[in-house]
Amino acid sequence: MTARDGRDPRELAAMGLDTHLEDKLLRRKYVSTMFDILAPGYDAFTQLFSFGMDRGWKALLVREGSRRAARAPCIVDLACGTGDLGIDLAERTGATLVLGLDLSPQMLAAARVRLRNNGTTLLLVACDMLELCLRENRVDVVSIGYGLRNTADLGQGLIEIARVLKPGGILLNLDFYKPAGRVWRELFLWYMWNAGRLAGWLWHREPIVYGYLAPSIRRYVTMPQFEDELARAGFTVEWRASRLGGGIGLHVARLVTKPPETRPG
Ligand SMILES: C[S@@+](CC[C@H](N)C(=O)[O-])C[C@H]1O[C@@H](n2cnc3c(N)ncnc32)[C@H](O)[C@@H]1O
Repeated sequence: MTARDGRDPRELAAMGLDTHLEDKLLRRKYVSTMFDILAPGYDAFTQLFSFGMDRGWKALLVREGSRRAARAPCIVDLACGTGDLGIDLAERTGATLVLGLDLSPQMLAAARVRLRNNGTTLLLVACDMLELCLRENRVDVVSIGYGLRNTADLGQGLIEIARVLKPGGILLNLDFYKPAGRVWRELFLWYMWNAGRLAGWLWHREPIVYGYLAPSIRRYVTMPQFEDELARAGFTVEWRASRLGGGIGLHVARLVTKPPETRPG
């Protein structure tokens, strides 16, 4: 079975997960190929795989975030996928400019189809969140759903976000984390690995399509470690929520200290 753009899921199996996760450039290639393959069924998969909880987590994050940035003129949804967070934020805040940025052309294509039926205006652009195609101090709110974990460099991702945010700007982030407790962590990852591979086989006849989830969480940080990284990049956490025993984290953080400029705008 192939995705609508004709990409064959076996492409991913041939790439080799472990080697591609360790290297920055290879990882970007792996992740963008993977999301190109799964883009057409992504929304249905997410709802099914999270037993519908994803909608509730996003609604809660958007509510808490927009309370703190009610009249934000410029919002950027990074790793926007099909645009869940960007669309909700646009509707809730009435922002004048909402950008959706993503690495995967097929995810952006799926977002375009969705926006045609939805009526919300989201400007969609292909862009890597480790090298944002935005100038510094332009953005009031950055939202990210399950995005930062996919990059090879969390610290660089946060510094890039801090670069484009205005001082006092808000970051909304939702992601999987490595649970801190060892027993629960192993159970959680065991479930993610097996359920992911089963879903990959059922959906694409290729287990590895969703087999990435567990290894990417295992290589990622715990929630407290993520909060340390936020602090290092100049953010202070204003609100947090943890779900699934620390396996899911929601954060609203404010940029209080701009990091020194790292690259020209
Ligand atoms: C799991 S999906 C999440 C989509 C959406 N944010 C949501 O919450 O449903 C992760 C998205 O991150 C994108 N992505 C991964 N690495 C990226 C990067 N370095 N820069 C931009 N987008 C990236 C993928 O293409 C994919 O669309």
